[in-house]
Amino acid sequence: MAHPWWHNVVVYQIYPRSFMDSNNDGMGDLPGIISKLDYLAQLGIDVIWLSPVFKSPMDDNGYDISDYEDIAPEFGTLADMDRLIAEASKRSIRIILDLVVNHSSDEHPWFVSARQSKDSPYRDFYIWRQPKADGSPPSELHSYFGGSMWELDEATGEYYLHQFSKKQPDLNWDNPAVPEAVHAMMNRWLDRGIVGFRMDVIDLIGKDVDRGIFARGPKLHDRLQAMNQATFGQRDALTVGEAWSADTEEAKRYANPNGNELSMVFQFEHIVIGWDPEHGKWKPRPFNLVELKQVFAKWQTELHGQGWNSLFWNNHDLPRAVSKYGDPGHYRVRSAKMLAIALHLMQGTPYIYQGEELGMTNVQFDSVDDYQDIETRNLYAERVAAGHDAAEMMAAIHENSRDNARTPMHWDASEQAGFSQNQPWLKVNPNYREINVAQCLEDPGSVFYCYQKLIKLRKAHDVIVHGDFELLLPDHDKVFAYLRTDPTNTMLVCTNFSAESVTVQLPEPLLNRQGECLISNLEERTILDNNLTLAPYEAFVIRWEKTPE
Ligand code: GLC
Ligand code: CA
Repeated sequence: MAHPWWHNVVVYQIYPRSFMDSNNDGMGDLPGIISKLDYLAQLGIDVIWLSPVFKSPMDDNGYDISDYEDIAPEFGTLADMDRLIAEASKRSIRIILDLVVNHSSDEHPWFVSARQSKDSPYRDFYIWRQPKADGSPPSELHSYFGGSMWELDEATGEYYLHQFSKKQPDLNWDNPAVPEAVHAMMNRWLDRGIVGFRMDVIDLIGKDVDRGIFARGPKLHDRLQAMNQATFGQRDALTVGEAWSADTEEAKRYANPNGNELSMVFQFEHIVIGWDPEHGKWKPRPFNLVELKQVFAKWQTELHGQGWNSLFWNNHDLPRAVSKYGDPGHYRVRSAKMLAIALHLMQGTPYIYQGEELGMTNVQFDSVDDYQDIETRNLYAERVAAGHDAAEMMAAIHENSRDNARTPMHWDASEQAGFSQNQPWLKVNPNYREINVAQCLEDPGSVFYCYQKLIKLRKAHDVIVHGDFELLLPDHDKVFAYLRTDPTNTMLVCTNFSAESVTVQLPEPLLNRQGECLISNLEERTILDNNLTLAPYEAFVIRWEKTPE
């Protein structure tokens, strides 16, 4: 059976406001992206996931859409969007858009009308409930961005539901007019030339509010199947569902190979194991490699042949990988490459978040006022008011704030990192003079060229895309090593996640056989000794042709 085209692609995520500013207003934009397409072509990526560029009051940087059919003026125009699609296509790059349909903006005409009167034809596009007898919200639910999930609408005397900010009212998917409108909108974008969607918090659209079920609601999969049939199902699209709640069983439903829902899931089990079970990301737990390996191995083996996963360390909501899992001080370049190698040789579709290919790091602003992210600001205010220690909150922000990923892209060593000639909407990371695209392109040993090579390897070696996975040394707390095999190849991936040298014993059949070093971040290795000593953050990959027995 022919495999879908998106099995061997690499996706690059662009956060438009931070990528490239073409008109020096401090805000990235579509013409800015177009001007950097040659750079992306040089990296070798196949698909761009474009974070939202639609009209929006930008309460959550565009994840609050007030017009799904138009572009936010700060980002450009529909004509710019058409040009982006065409210019990308000339370079064999396809574009997927961020589909944010769990909620809209409160400034979307649907909501503006809905809140005007209970008789509005759009009233039922949103989720309204009566106050309790004492006037308080219908339930105690807490929104992700702080405060209640319910907001009182004074004019009509009812509360509306918002799982995120109060400017992001949840759409009512129980009303058939909602999917109908969403599907029509999706088809218009597909007709315009995009090849699919990244689906924002898509696991929330099947909710059953009165039973308190939000993620993985009872109607979720029916709704995805209906969406598939009404829109991208016949179009050979790439669709990826953001699903914080997915376990492997659930993922097999979303991304089942018969293709009646989505192409793949984007799930976070490897991320949330680093968070406190009760306090979440604002109380990070120490990194535990053994646990991380268990999670990776589980997803690799359970989805093999039965689903399709995304591979990522980073996105616009997460801290920078090299700061989280590597050593941004002593071994920045080496550990960034190690992380890339460890991730990209597994099965699934790799995602690179802008700047990851340079080894960009977290930022540490002294004042919370320098942070722009609504989640960071709201949660800081809420928790400090509730008695949490402010210094501890700042430390958690330095570690996990979403703005770590959102500081402007580093293009060169000039003022504002070559992102803009003006003060950007969010300050640049002060380390841009050492870490930037111009520097990376000049240095053959840069993180950039490691990513470039990994993308090429995925196209050249089917064992990376479809081979079996076997975790080696499962209990080792510093080394992540695995095998990928198919009928003609064995590939060993061996990575040291620590700043110490470590000596390990690999399984006997791998020893003393001459192989090909596909990639490494130190010297090449082509043969393994009995006792293999790995340097700090070393990573290498050897491939052997399977010799017939
Ligand atoms: C997703 C997005 C995040 C956004 C949220 C609400 O998790 O990735 O950036 O704030 O949904 O739309
Ligand atoms: Ca601009």
